[in-house]
Amino acid sequence: MFPYKIKEDFYYVGVNDRKTELFERIIPIPYGVSYNSYLLVDEKVVLFDTVEMSFADNAIEKIKIALNDKKIDYLIIHHLEPDHTSGIKIYLNEFPEMQIICSKRAKDMLDGFYGISDKIITVDDNSELSTGKHTLKFIYAPMVHWPEVMMSYETTEKILFSADAFGCFGTLDGRIFDNFIDPSIYDKYIEEMYRYYVNVVGKYGVPVQSTMKKFEGLQINMICSLHGPIWIDSRESIFKLYDRLSRYEGEKGVVILYGSMYSNTEKMAEVVARGAYEANAKVILHDVSKSDISFMITDCFRYSGLIIGSPTYNGTIFSKVQDILERLELRGLKNRTFGSFGSYTWGGIAVRQLNEFSEKMKWDTVGSVEVKQSMKISDYQNFYNLGRSVGEKVAGL
Ligand SMILES: Cc1cc2nc3c(=O)[nH]c(=O)nc-3n(C[C@H](O)[C@H](O)[C@H](O)COP(=O)(O)O)c2cc1C
Ligand SMILES: [Fe+2]
Ligand SMILES: [Fe+2]
Repeated sequence: MFPYKIKEDFYYVGVNDRKTELFERIIPIPYGVSYNSYLLVDEKVVLFDTVEMSFADNAIEKIKIALNDKKIDYLIIHHLEPDHTSGIKIYLNEFPEMQIICSKRAKDMLDGFYGISDKIITVDDNSELSTGKHTLKFIYAPMVHWPEVMMSYETTEKILFSADAFGCFGTLDGRIFDNFIDPSIYDKYIEEMYRYYVNVVGKYGVPVQSTMKKFEGLQINMICSLHGPIWIDSRESIFKLYDRLSRYEGEKGVVILYGSMYSNTEKMAEVVARGAYEANAKVILHDVSKSDISFMITDCFRYSGLIIGSPTYNGTIFSKVQDILERLELRGLKNRTFGSFGSYTWGGIAVRQLNEFSEKMKWDTVGSVEVKQSMKISDYQNFYNLGRSVGEKVAGL
């Protein structure tokens, strides 16, 4: 049926974006993204979030079908980032009677971004809204990943409207529930959840942990995020995934990232990879000049072993490797088992600096090999051992 009914009285009224190439103009989204929105048609009618401006008309059509001539009483805004609110004026034009419910911080932002200051009710952690048959409780979730973020919990069906949390990239192509997704496609959504978390939320591990503490004691049957499928069967594993990522706990695997202008460092990377593989670790290898940085930092978060190779380049680390270090530092990546390697011609500096970076991040550096110019036959074993020692440490976790 259309629009999608998700539970008695609840409808999905979101949209799919297959046009945007770069989310937040920086993160490639090859599988697109959904901007989710939900409608509760009870004695009082509640709309949960709006969508990006260019999709607002499409979403409003879906809402009208579900409304069946009723009016919307409340619009709950969980998060003010423009992927969810840039269409708000189109909605207010269409449904002028609705009052906005949001956090105090969101109220300021509504004025700042859109000049909207009327008919706003601010709520916090202790607030509730009864709509007739249903009751909504609000959960303030500051810095997951903006300061105004809040979530709603519906007490009868036990639905968590989680804002961006537990969201992923990838459009919803005729299906909205996790348990109807073919396994091969399902895995893509999970990979895209890692990438969404690391790139969008990754810096805010501590706020994610504080918010998840607020879920303790709450029975949650369904997670309705602002992006990606509705999580029912996988809700427990999704919570675990968020818990692990926000504690910076890596899985067993070794990520090898290398930069190389003329393939000297690249040849070393392959020998390092062989050593890690023979230690029974999962190995993921990226040429930093080929792979997109959003995928590389995701793997750095996902796996606990990290080996970085760089030639010395103008007296420092190869700049594309440098970019990755900057992003990892910004996100405060913790608890990695680290190794480094590289090539130089007249003065080796990159490997020393990589090790200094590891020290600054309080990572555990287990090995490091630097060679002048090309790797010699006698050097192979050292590179192999580097990969093997990181691999063994990680596989033994
Ligand atoms: C633009 C550029 C800058 C370089 N700067 C340095 C340097 O500051 N110190 C040094 O020892 N070697 C420097 N080199 C030499 C490289 O580190 C050396 O050729 C190394 O073997 C390259 O490794 P690759 O084949 O993995 O790119 C530079 C090379 C290039 C092309
Ligand atoms: Fe967001
Ligand atoms: Fe979002």
